[in-house]
Amino acid sequence: MNFHIMTLFPDMVLNGLGTSITGRAMERGILNIEAVNIRDYTLDRHLHVDDAPYGGGAGMVMQPEPVYRAYEALRERIGRKPRVLYMTPQGKVFSQEIARELAKEEDLVFLCGHYEGVDERVLDMIVTDYLSIGDYVLTGGELPAMVMIDCISRLVPGVLNNRESAEIETFHDNLLEYPQYTRPENFMGHRVPEVLLSGHHANVDRWRRQQSLIRTAERRPDLLEKACLTREDKAFLAAYRQEQEEKIPSGKIKKSL
Ligand code: ADE
Repeated sequence: MNFHIMTLFPDMVLNGLGTSITGRAMERGILNIEAVNIRDYTLDRHLHVDDAPYGGGAGMVMQPEPVYRAYEALRERIGRKPRVLYMTPQGKVFSQEIARELAKEEDLVFLCGHYEGVDERVLDMIVTDYLSIGDYVLTGGELPAMVMIDCISRLVPGVLNNRESAEIETFHDNLLEYPQYTRPENFMGHRVPEVLLSGHHANVDRWRRQQSLIRTAERRPDLLEKACLTREDKAFLAAYRQEQEEKIPSGKIKKSL
């Protein structure tokens, strides 16, 4: 899979993504991640890529020409019109579901803006998707692009090895992942749950499913509505909620269960 990042800060994205699992996948040739320096495409003598906004106002706006020229060069190299994702807090909020859909593409272009944004005309001309990583404002699109590339990469076959498998994970089935434990069995008096030491696989699976249900109900009750629950899951949750109700003395504010 090929990721092309249009940016004014190529080192930032390449240093970040060249490390750890994405870096390993790049070395193995499973991922190809390149940074296209938008400044290389300016026709300005002083290499400027931004200017003051028409109509006045604070900050600078990235000019359309270098962005368009960088895109055109990329499109020619790819050989067809690629999907172009513009990183903006005004976009649709990125999710595991969007990541799964994007992971099917051969090439993805990430356009990272800076300053007060990018001239709207070039966005209209080249952008196919407006994406955000959440309702907060960052100084540029590089970190959002890195977040999305990291997330999409781990869904590309061969990027994760068996031990890092993406199959069972948080958000699989709209349930949060169960808690994990490793050695030692006793850490400062806190013991690993007994069932995990039992070697009884069916019991371990049932316990993990129940922990996922509890965790989702407590931390992300909004997800539970979308989760696919069996009759046994529903009965377990009902009993758990009942138990919690009984634990909370009357008059106290209840948790949102
Ligand atoms: N650029 C600035 N803030 C952003 C955000 N939250 N998501 C995507 N791109 C951004």
